[in-house]
Amino acid sequence: MNILTETNFAFLGPRRAGKVRDIYERNGKLVIITTDRHSSFDRIIAHIPWKGQVLNQVSAWWFERTKDIVPNHVLAVPDPNVTVARKCTMLPVEAVVRGYLTGVTDTAAWTRYAAGERTFGGTHLPEGMRKNQRLPQPIFDPTTKEAAHDRTLTPEQMIAEGFITRDLFDRVKATALALFARGQDLAARNGLILVDTKYEFGLGADGGLVLIDEIHTPDSSRYWQRDSYADRFAAGGEPQYFDKEFLRLWFRDHCDPYRDATLPPAPPELVQELSRRYVAMYEQITGTKFAYGETPILPRIESNLKSFAF
Ligand SMILES: Nc1ncnc2c1ncn2[C@@H]1O[C@H](COP(=O)(O)OP(=O)(O)O)[C@@H](O)[C@H]1O
Ligand SMILES: [Mg+2]
Repeated sequence: MNILTETNFAFLGPRRAGKVRDIYERNGKLVIITTDRHSSFDRIIAHIPWKGQVLNQVSAWWFERTKDIVPNHVLAVPDPNVTVARKCTMLPVEAVVRGYLTGVTDTAAWTRYAAGERTFGGTHLPEGMRKNQRLPQPIFDPTTKEAAHDRTLTPEQMIAEGFITRDLFDRVKATALALFARGQDLAARNGLILVDTKYEFGLGADGGLVLIDEIHTPDSSRYWQRDSYADRFAAGGEPQYFDKEFLRLWFRDHCDPYRDATLPPAPPELVQELSRRYVAMYEQITGTKFAYGETPILPRIESNLKSFAF
């Protein structure tokens, strides 16, 4: 099995590595290579075959179908794992949009609602809502992007603390909600509910808002199966969802992923299962068959980038 763990393309210049993506800069353009790295507990826990291609191509699919709403950073997709993008000045705000009251982490909307919070990003929610219930309307619930960890601030706090101007905040909010509406609409046609997501925006050279990074991928978004939602919700059960947790849980049960210097290797059958699920998500989201890229991956990318006219 061919896996893209990392790249080191000297001909592209210095590399910057995010958790999942390797980024190079060429002629003021970014070369963003999505690898198969899988992160959890703030570290890489495994490499999942085809995951990089799935993320890159799912994003490309959505960028194409939302470019009438807001310009995005895509200049070209010269390889299944690569996007050549406009370099933008990143806004320090994660534009989170939620369509349903769900989640289990501290910052999740359901956790906060269950603890008594009723106002989310300026929207007041009624009493008596249940876990996984559809919200009266999607809410914009942004967090800050910070080195330490992201915080959920009210719009007023964000503006007062200088993260963003009022005008820009309003544009980000309106754009994120419009993107989410499009996302829910297209997802529904392929039997999915787009439950919640997070967008990143930048400013282009002309000062205009640009959608960057990734959009509506299985890593940035939660999806549920649409046909079983109503029955399961009525019965008090959990919706049918794209489950990636099992790999994370294996690590939690077999080592101390926050402390151990090295981690045990992930069980191959779990890695394969997760890989199959990413490919299945690609196929359901886009409604098209996944076209496995040619292998070996690394020389393929190198050759595609060497012949790309920057
Ligand atoms: N067009 C762009 N301009 C500037 N920065 C970008 C652009 N697109 C994505 N990025 C940034 O590149 C990085 C992508 O790599 P990734 O591995 O996802 O990083 P992270 O570990 O921060 O999630 C992110 O920090 C993202 O904000
Ligand atoms: Mg990222």
